[in-house]
Amino acid sequence: MTRNLWPLMLPPSQHGLDELCSVSAHGVRVKFANGRELLCGTSGLWNTNLGYGNPAIAQASSDALRDASYLSVWGYENSYARQAAEELIELAGSTHYSRVLFSTSGGAANDMAMKLVRHFHVIRGQNERKIILGLQGGFHGLTFGAFALTTARLGQKMYGVDRRLIGHIEPNNAVDLSRVLSRIGNRLAAIVVEPVIGTGAVPLEAEYVAELLRCRSEYGFLLVADEVTTGFGRLGGTVFATQKWAETPDVLITAKGLTNGTQAASALIVSRLVAEAFADSESILGHAETQAGTPVACAAITATIAELERLNAVARSSELSHRLDLRLSAMVNTIPLVTNTTGKGCLRSLRLSNVDGTPLDQPKIPAVVAAIRDAGALVHPGPSCIQLLPALIYSDSELDELLGAITSGLASYTRTHELYG
Ligand SMILES: Cc1ncc(COP(=O)(O)O)c(C=O)c1O
Repeated sequence: MTRNLWPLMLPPSQHGLDELCSVSAHGVRVKFANGRELLCGTSGLWNTNLGYGNPAIAQASSDALRDASYLSVWGYENSYARQAAEELIELAGSTHYSRVLFSTSGGAANDMAMKLVRHFHVIRGQNERKIILGLQGGFHGLTFGAFALTTARLGQKMYGVDRRLIGHIEPNNAVDLSRVLSRIGNRLAAIVVEPVIGTGAVPLEAEYVAELLRCRSEYGFLLVADEVTTGFGRLGGTVFATQKWAETPDVLITAKGLTNGTQAASALIVSRLVAEAFADSESILGHAETQAGTPVACAAITATIAELERLNAVARSSELSHRLDLRLSAMVNTIPLVTNTTGKGCLRSLRLSNVDGTPLDQPKIPAVVAAIRDAGALVHPGPSCIQLLPALIYSDSELDELLGAITSGLASYTRTHELYG
């Protein structure tokens, strides 16, 4: 056991444990340093939508590393980035979107989007439009800009995160939206939303999306869809969740599934309206990253898009979603602790409750996740819930195995905690 690694978001008492140190992964299974192999119910960190070790993505990445180990998009272009941009526009819809900006993480992409929307309004002579609104419960990353939009309390005050031009509104609450807009609508640069709030798997209701779109026309702000989690087929039916909306967002942020989790890569897919404002005014956006849009990242994006199509993953995601609808609702009030289920597609939660029906105390969630891990599967901790994000290549029997491990894990947690308090 070594203790030189400082793992992220893990209490120090759990550093250095072999049971939490993964060593390899194939398909939907991950091997750990203690010798166990677990079924992955989280698609890595919600990013390996097509499973681990996809050979076509590995080959394309390897070729790019050999032929073009580093080429920049900072002050230059490279042909891999051109190709990936073209394919992303095709995927998202070329009638509405026209340009792609590359970044290296979901957080950095949110930072870039925050700059982009404020700069857009300055170009249009509306310097006062600086406020950006996010949704309560939303997660957009932990870089300084994104951290201000993220509402999970992870030390924003302690770290001096600046929220002077940031606000939060209640999701699925049109009254709150109109109250805030009537106050700051003319100073609003953008609203940033996840189509399904990842934390807790809370979908935006269709009426709320319609109201957001209506208010965009009325108040003139931009709508940014953070599809870091919901993109690349995660919700089934379409590649991006917002392709089901009646109108498109002005900026679409993608990461996670973008390279199937193989690269530190993200992208902003930008509407014609926004892109043309920059082009017409010869404006340069003040954002760049050395490792953005590298050949290896862009080759991985191009290969991921091809594999998404070859594996028919979006359709498979819809099939899995249908199965999850049936299986998860059948677990409600029949499996220990489970009192509700939320989410869409392959982004789900099982809500857990104490015996008295109140939401399970948050400090207990890690022990529940550990019990499920002991039973053979990886699930994600959420607010009084566990979250499931199976890869879109799951077979029916693998899904049965995942739900079986969850059931055993919850039973074992309940037994242990009844016995030991
Ligand atoms: C919706 C959403 N946006 C942004 C992020 C941040 O992404 P990253 O961890 O790549 O910075 C996440 C990460 O979980 C996310 O779920």
